[in-house]
Amino acid sequence: MKKIQLFSFLMVSSIIFYSFIKPQKSVKDEIPFPTGYRNWTHIKTAINNPTFGSHSGFHHIYGNEKAVKGYKTGNFDDGSIIIFDVLETIKQQNDDVFEGKRKLIDMMVKDGKKYAETGGWGFQEFIYVDSTERKVLIPTKQQCFNCHASKKEFDYVFSKLRV
Ligand code: HEC
Repeated sequence: MKKIQLFSFLMVSSIIFYSFIKPQKSVKDEIPFPTGYRNWTHIKTAINNPTFGSHSGFHHIYGNEKAVKGYKTGNFDDGSIIIFDVLETIKQQNDDVFEGKRKLIDMMVKDGKKYAETGGWGFQEFIYVDSTERKVLIPTKQQCFNCHASKKEFDYVFSKLRV
């Protein structure tokens, strides 16, 4: 085997090996389901077009009391929780748009110490099958934080409290 081929072989096999031994996030990293979030403060609603894939459709954003304080000051205390609730859109005959099935829930939980690596926020997603059964996804830094990182000046939060 030529040197260069051997080198590429070693590179590829070590990447494959690494991906197997790399510690995966486990159940203990899971953030509990946010029961009662629909009684929290409604921050805003928007509709994403179909190019947003899994995030297309209605999204309603809710914040608990601490999060609402954060929206007002730009600094979110530990214990702040923000929910991003995504539902399908259904068009009726005269182009009225109604909510369909729930697709997913994204959440952010503030704990400066625990989530120091991601701006103090823990990120998680609940994926829904048929509006009812839900599956937990514990995302990587790339899947959530790297995009939210652009909002550092507002504590990594994109949305603003509607008036
Ligand atoms: C490509 C960029 C991008 C990625 C990746 C992303 N988000 Fe967001 N996220 C946004 C934007 C933009 C908004 C604001 C939407 C609005 O104002 O209606 C948002 C809003 C949110 C909110 C409401 C609080 C806020 O910042 O406004 C939560 C909670 C949230 N995202 C969680 C997540 C989670 C969990 C993931 C990973 C599974 C994720 N996001 C991945 C761009 C992103």
